[in-house]
Amino acid sequence: MSSAPDTLSGDGQLQDAALRPTEWDEYVGQAQVKANVRVAIDAAKKRGGMPEHLLFYGPPGVGKTTLAYLVASTLGANLKSTSGVAIERAADLAAILTNLEPGTVLFIDEIHRLSRKIEELLYPALESGHLDIVLGKGPSARTVELALPAFTLVGATTRMAELSGPLRSRFGGGTFQLDFYSDRDLRDIIRRSASRLGVDATDDAIENIAAKSRATPRVANSLLKRVRDYSLVHEKPVDAALCDEACILFGIDAHGLTKDDRRYLETLREGFRGGPAGIRALASAMHEEPDTVEHVYEPYLLRLGFIERSPRGRILTSKGREYLG
Ligand SMILES: Nc1ncnc2c1ncn2[C@@H]1O[C@H](COP(=O)(O)OP(=O)(O)OP(=O)(O)O)[C@@H](O)[C@H]1O
Ligand SMILES: [Mg+2]
Repeated sequence: MSSAPDTLSGDGQLQDAALRPTEWDEYVGQAQVKANVRVAIDAAKKRGGMPEHLLFYGPPGVGKTTLAYLVASTLGANLKSTSGVAIERAADLAAILTNLEPGTVLFIDEIHRLSRKIEELLYPALESGHLDIVLGKGPSARTVELALPAFTLVGATTRMAELSGPLRSRFGGGTFQLDFYSDRDLRDIIRRSASRLGVDATDDAIENIAAKSRATPRVANSLLKRVRDYSLVHEKPVDAALCDEACILFGIDAHGLTKDDRRYLETLREGFRGGPAGIRALASAMHEEPDTVEHVYEPYLLRLGFIERSPRGRILTSKGREYLG
């Protein structure tokens, strides 16, 4: 199985942190989400309490974690960060919740990975701020209510469909979809990152990188850094020609697609006559997991309009055929 295109994961979380916006006006785009979240925060501050629980969902690298950090910093609150995979047992959740400083933002990333058992334990904590702890076993077992410090849960997920209905309904502060970014927003992000990194990039270069960034801020920053490295090594200025030259080496084309994306499109065209192709058959022909195909390759190809999802399977569009040539 080949790995996902490396521009998707970027240079990793550590590098994300360096360019992560810490002020609202550095957080580009997503205007409606920002406005709504700020109302929830400002109202809570005026009431002197904590906002209700918030849920952010959208593809990888579009700013969910960044937004969670902004929520906490605007509230002047501590942020405790964990993830759905890390909370395995009831005791893990109980330990986290009971140890929170009052007024903490609890960030649970990949919240769709919580088990049903943990979810059920979380419900009373979200609704009325207590945990139901079962003491003893068998007929003599009894449940005690343990009051918890006040907290706001901020959940994030790339897979909204995998979140259970009951859990979804408990985000009283709102559920917000973060979408792919426009070219213009990406250019703003790249311009700011370039100035932070001390990279002297021409407007053409910024436009060029934006077009190859898969509508995703993390990819944009990652590509900018790779182009910077290339320019350093080759001692050439960062202009559009250099970006194109570097991207040939990186295996990234004018749309930001990699050989894996092209393999997907070619498999759909050659192996399935352009579809409709079922996701399992398609994935198997690519020697990939259906999950990877659906969540790594398809979102951006759909966004480009190169493929479509139909009830009978995936279809290569005329735009997709044109791209393949
Ligand atoms: N709206 C934005 N404005 C400026 N930069 C952004 C924005 N959103 C994201 N970024 C940049 O992209 C990087 C990745 O964003 P972030 O880690 O918040 O994405 P995510 O949605 O949490 O991704 P994942 O699903 O992989 O956890 C950030 O460190 C930041 O540099
Ligand atoms: Mg994140």
